[in-house]
Amino acid sequence: MSQESRVGPNEIITIGGLSYRYYGSAQLVLKNIDLRVSAGEIIVVAGKSGSGKSTLLRAINGLIPHQHSGDYSGSVIVDGLEVSSTKMSELATKVGYIFQNPENQIFMFSVERDIGFGLENLGVPRREIRERVDWAMETLGIKHLALRAPHELSDGQKQRVAIAGVIAMRPKILILDEPTSLLDPFTAKGLVKVVRDLHDSLGITVLIVEHRLDLVAQIADRIIVIDEGKVIYAGPPREVLYNSETSLYGVTEPTIVRLAKLLPFGKEALPISSDELGRQIRDRIKEKGRVSPA
Ligand SMILES: Nc1ncnc2c1ncn2[C@@H]1O[C@H](COP(=O)(O)OP(=O)(O)OP(=O)(O)O)[C@@H](O)[C@H]1O
Ligand SMILES: [Mg+2]
Repeated sequence: MSQESRVGPNEIITIGGLSYRYYGSAQLVLKNIDLRVSAGEIIVVAGKSGSGKSTLLRAINGLIPHQHSGDYSGSVIVDGLEVSSTKMSELATKVGYIFQNPENQIFMFSVERDIGFGLENLGVPRREIRERVDWAMETLGIKHLALRAPHELSDGQKQRVAIAGVIAMRPKILILDEPTSLLDPFTAKGLVKVVRDLHDSLGITVLIVEHRLDLVAQIADRIIVIDEGKVIYAGPPREVLYNSETSLYGVTEPTIVRLAKLLPFGKEALPISSDELGRQIRDRIKEKGRVSPA
């Protein structure tokens, strides 16, 4: 079968029958995964610790199989390229990867050199590096940090620098593996907004592993739940979060969902954000005529 016929229209990631076992490990970590992602989707990947979330992301950005040896079968096609037979340097222009800890991707003397580092490695001409670094800093709102040393920055600022370095490569796909785990709730919220803005302005496809579903459910098109290396659920946030079974697979119910279940709302009202819940409560109050409409 030709590669094109396996990839649906507007599909940017196509995973078919992917199984993987790390070298020396007894167990398969990914088991016959099928997943299709359309360009421009925001996907949240959820599941228990050890379920295989990070491993799945590594199979998309190419770290698997290029930097981890092991038993690999099946196919991962990213923007038309079969990952297992595409060089990491080429994949890096398609898929940007943000680690949980930004320290892993920040190492140079100044923020702007750091952001340009990936482009330097690719041999992009100096002038273009300058333009792209400026654009990335502007986009992330960190221009004022250009000459600062990365180690002087807060965790939230470091995470923005890491994202700027990745988007300077102009990837079509942005992958974030628990990017808010080191951040306080306020900074984490800011980071999620950054991701949504990047998606809205660049049309970038986003895959994000995040335990705090209350933070990301409202920006997600789909939540995918992984368990023991298999995709157990994949669906719109409302469906997944109000499905009583998903909690069995390590999906923590967001506070909003827990609260909404306690309220006398009908089945049609399934809020997934505090804004939605607030709106629904206001509507109910208005219906009952307790407050006059503003
Ligand atoms: N480099 C590695 N070599 C061998 N086994 C590994 C390696 N990385 C992960 N594993 C194993 O693969 C399984 C899945 O790990 P993975 O890191 O993908 O899970 P995860 O869902 O991302 O978990 P967490 O939520 O804790 O980050 C675990 O059993 C883990 O111990
Ligand atoms: Mg992980």
